[in-house]
Amino acid sequence: MYLSADTSFSRFTHSIHEEIAAFEKAYSEQLQPEAPFLGELISHIGKGRGKRLRPILFFLSQGLVSRPSVGTARIAVLLELLHTATLIHDDVLDNSSDRRGFPTLNALWGERVSILMGDYLFAKVLQLGVDTDRPEILRIIARAVKDMGRGELWQTLKGNDEGLTPEEYYDLIRDKTAGLFSAACELGGIAAGADPDQIERLRLIGEGFGLAFQIRDDVLDLTGIEERLGKPVGQDVTNGKMTLPCILALQDADEDERGIIMDHFKKASNESVRCIVQFIKEREGVEKAQEEARRWIAGVNDRIESFSPSVYRESLKELVLFGLRRRE
Ligand code: IPE
Ligand code: IPE
Ligand code: MG
Ligand code: MG
Repeated sequence: MYLSADTSFSRFTHSIHEEIAAFEKAYSEQLQPEAPFLGELISHIGKGRGKRLRPILFFLSQGLVSRPSVGTARIAVLLELLHTATLIHDDVLDNSSDRRGFPTLNALWGERVSILMGDYLFAKVLQLGVDTDRPEILRIIARAVKDMGRGELWQTLKGNDEGLTPEEYYDLIRDKTAGLFSAACELGGIAAGADPDQIERLRLIGEGFGLAFQIRDDVLDLTGIEERLGKPVGQDVTNGKMTLPCILALQDADEDERGIIMDHFKKASNESVRCIVQFIKEREGVEKAQEEARRWIAGVNDRIESFSPSVYRESLKELVLFGLRRRE
């Protein structure tokens, strides 16, 4: 039984509970069907609750600069809607069966409907962005959308290459994941009237956390529990994705071992997947990747501390640290 993932993350939101409540209200309004034929689809999307991380980052980033404001909840809605749209497309690309504890749209309605629904939500995001009447906000959103598109394209074209280097992996996850995290933090800064130096520091906080978050996600694909994650595990190996634990495990392998693992990737049978996972674990790919994530979080923590002390700063520090050991 999947327990909504936001329960374990709600402990980081006590300082912004009014803002989160305003976000939830505005978000559910956005998830009202515009036409009766959309009813079932839209209500299905609304059922699965994620961790609300991007809205949380947005509000806590405001708090680093001044105070969070309920009046900015629509930007948080925009971020969560954008994230949800990318997940709908991502589940098509990964041929995934479950998301946030429920069957994916592609599992229930097929790929054509999922692609259209993702596009439709992207358009709603665009509309929300235009409604802010602030080009600097739209500029950040546009950049994040473009980066994510480029990241998913790259992953689809090159993400299965056996020679993928850690640097290429980082470029890929910077695009597909960290771009939206940094957008959330930057937008928080803009909403709070931050100066350019503060905005740049916020951007780097979001980026570093986003990279560590994706590394942890890739680790959880090997070590996680489906009921906690609300999505399948072992899927990256099945799909032949070269994630950091695998890349780092392969670094010490000789030519023969590499050949055997690559053959297993090609076969992708249950037995092959088991062998690859075992190889990654034996070569401490998980520990090595986790250490990389820890390194990013240490840098993020230092940047957070460059802001003045506040309850928001403490919540953000706890949140990013929790990102390293999360299981959901
Ligand atoms: C999932 O993001 C996609 C990745 C960037 C790994 P989240 O783990 O934030 O997903 P939800 O919103 O909680 O479902
Ligand atoms: C993150 O990658 C996807 C996006 C940033 C859209 P994953 O494919 O690893 O995310 P999950 O594991 O499906 O949530
Ligand atoms: Mg996926
Ligand atoms: Mg994943």
